[in-house]
Formats: sequence, structure tokens, C-alpha cells
Amino acid sequence: MSDFNYRDGGLWAEGVPLEQIAEQFGTPTYVYSRAHYEKQYLDYADALGNHPGLICYAVKANSNLGILSLLAQLGAGFDIVSGGELERVLLAGGDPSRIVFSGVGKTADEMRRALEVGVHCFNVESEAEMARLEQVAAECGVRAPVSLRVNPDVDAKTHPYISTGLKENKFGIAIDGAVEVYRRAAGSAHLKVIGVDCHIGSQLTEIAPFLDALDRLLILIDQLADAGIQLEHLDLGGGLGVRYRGEEPPPVSDYLNAVKERLGDRQLGLVLEPGRSIAANGGLLLTRVEFLKRAEEHNFAIVDAAMNDNLRPALYQAWQDIVPVVPDSGETEIWDIVGPVCETGDFLGKNRSLALQQGQLLAMMSAGAYGFTMSSNYNSRPRAAEVLVDGDRTYLVRARETVEDLVRGESPVPERAPAKA
Ligand code: LLP
Repeated sequence: MSDFNYRDGGLWAEGVPLEQIAEQFGTPTYVYSRAHYEKQYLDYADALGNHPGLICYAVKANSNLGILSLLAQLGAGFDIVSGGELERVLLAGGDPSRIVFSGVGKTADEMRRALEVGVHCFNVESEAEMARLEQVAAECGVRAPVSLRVNPDVDAKTHPYISTGLKENKFGIAIDGAVEVYRRAAGSAHLKVIGVDCHIGSQLTEIAPFLDALDRLLILIDQLADAGIQLEHLDLGGGLGVRYRGEEPPPVSDYLNAVKERLGDRQLGLVLEPGRSIAANGGLLLTRVEFLKRAEEHNFAIVDAAMNDNLRPALYQAWQDIVPVVPDSGETEIWDIVGPVCETGDFLGKNRSLALQQGQLLAMMSAGAYGFTMSSNYNSRPRAAEVLVDGDRTYLVRARETVEDLVRGESPVPERAPAKA
């Protein structure tokens, strides 16, 4: 059963009608189901079973402290890509020793802070980054735990913007030259080689590309073992897809069972960095129809959420279902659901068959991942509220932004001073 269901003529989030949430917190509002996030995380944890390793939720998918805290309470690890994400995890009660630090552009300050709190490992993406990490670790008088992110050059067969494991992508170290880089890392007094990492892309709906990548990593791991470099873990990144519109991604257990089988008798822990598959279908974006506009070519429903709230349709032509909170019995028509932002690319959905009325509430589904986290203040729109539902309780986990929030840190300048003589 989904955590968003129609009941008594309206759409509910767990035990709370969305109409009530709109009334209490206004719109646009992101609504999350606690049960969904827990279930999805536990799916991974169960599939890993007794195998040593970590399920490191990819914070970038949804970094609200409410979400991070509920995952921390379940003992989750976290995959972070910035100092900001690190602080969020710590504020949410996450265990630093279960954090993996990914990302191609870590600053020295970020490295220092991560060493200070004791992250599990740095996923190092280039030799230049390795040199910087070595230096920072030396300054701190510690050994930095490292895993090299290698680029296995496999095609994830997903949208080009979210495909990351091909040679032409900016991510990772080419797998062919990796042994040499490992040798150097292993020889350093300030680096401790502990793993290998890859992440080939996002929204994968088949297991095969993951296994292709794994096979290439295993060859590398065996070469390293021959060279006397024993790794403790293998990190396969995130990437498992979800159903937005008819996709049928494999169950997590199928994926992990296939991986464990391939590992054979190698003593290797497994790290995974799932984001979307934990978060996407645990959230929706609640929005209200402001105006209906029937034009010659198109019918437009102008709603109070926009591309600044959910960029995915504009950026990737992504499809997310848009459904009425209280279905209208009127005749359906074909609508483009658009926001108030001054861009033609500002749409949430095109060609949607709906019976609409002004003032009606709509829910944009599958918005729990890469929704709020990619939102902005474009057009000086305060960002949406975020509400977490737990059974029949609601928690405002992020208040709607105000105008004060919008201009925080900005200041007008005084009138132009006369030129100095
Ligand atoms: N690990 C690394 C190193 C990553 O770069 C990513 C996502 C993940 C894990 C989590 O991947 P997931 O399990 O969520 O597929 N904004 C795009 C998705 C970008 C994904 C970026 N990296 C979207 O809305 O579709």
C-alpha cells in the first residue's frame, strides 16, 4: 500500500487528509510520509542482512533535518557531498563514523571538519584531491581514510544529465590508471586506503549496469590484492530507480543478492548510497490552482508551485504524476500545469487529463527526492514549507520562508557618493 491514498473522497498522507495540511500550513507545501522513508531504508538494511557494510543515505536527495533524523534513529549511514550536508547530518543526530564524503570539489576546510568529526571515509575523485587530503591530514596529524572513486566507463542507460559513470563524465578516476593511484595512496603516511567506490548514475531501472560496474571493480580489487593492497569495502554508490510513470525498477533485495553473489568469497564490506529509491515516493508537493486559462492551443492551469519549487520537469523534462486532492466530478480536459515564474520552461506537467477548478488542490507525486533540495528563490519566491506526517500527526519540519528570509544578509547601498577630488 502506498503511503498516500484516497480515502473518504480525498487524498491522505498516512492518517492525515491533505486538505487539512493545506489549511493548516498553506501551499505550496512538501508533504513527506515518515513510514515510507523508514520502510525504504529498512528494505536496504534487511537486504544487506548480516553482510558487513553501511547503507549511506544520499543526503542530497532530501536533506531536511526531519528526514535525516528519522533515518539516523534507524542507524543509517549518510553519503554527503559538502560541509553543509555534513553539518546537517550532525544536527540530525547522525553518527559521523557512518558518513562517506563524496563529491569532486572538496575544500580544505571541508576536509578538516570531516577529519575532526571522524567520518568513515573520503571518496576521493582525483589525484589533485588526494594530494590536498594528504596535506590536510598531515596538518591535522591524522591518517585520512580513503576510498578512490573510480570511473568504470559503463553506460547506466539513464538521462544524460544524471549519468556519471562514462569516461566523458567529470566524476572519478579512470579505472585503467587506478592501481597506480592506489599504490601512491597506500604509500602515504597520512592516508589509509580502505575502499573503492563508484556511482554510475541515477534512476537506473535495471540491475545489469550495476553488475557491469561491479565486475570491473572486482577486477581492480583483485589486481590490488595482488599488489598487496587489501580493501575493506566496496561502495557501489546510489542509483536504483523508482516508479515515476510505469517504470519497474527491481526490488532492492534482487539487486543486493546479485551483488553479494558476485562478491564470492572476497572479504569485502558493502557500502551503498541510495537517495532517490529511499526518498522519491515518500513525498509530494501540495499546490493550489490559482487560475485557469484557456488559450487557443493549450489550456493552462496556473498553480502556486513553480520551477523554483521543483526544477525536475524544467531541467530533465521529468514526468511526475499530478493528481487532484479531491477529485472533481466535472469533465476532464487536457491541461498544462504551470507555475507563476516568468519562464516558458516553468511547468510542472504537460498534457495532463484532469477536471480542474480554480482554487482546487493538486498533489505532484514522487517529489520526496530532488524536490525541495533543488529549489531556489528565483523570482523572489520564498521557498515552500515542509511537513512530515507520522500516522495522524504532522510536524512542520521546515517553516515556509518569509520576506525576511529572502533578503537575509543583503543590504541596499547608500546614495552614490560624489567622486573623490
Ligand atoms: N552517490 C553519489 C556519488 C551521487 O552522485 C548520487 C546522486 C547518489 C549517491 C544518489 O543517487 P540516487 O540513489 O539518488 O540515484 N537531481 C537529479 C538526480 C541527481 C543525482 C546526483 N547524484 C534528479 O532529480 O533526477
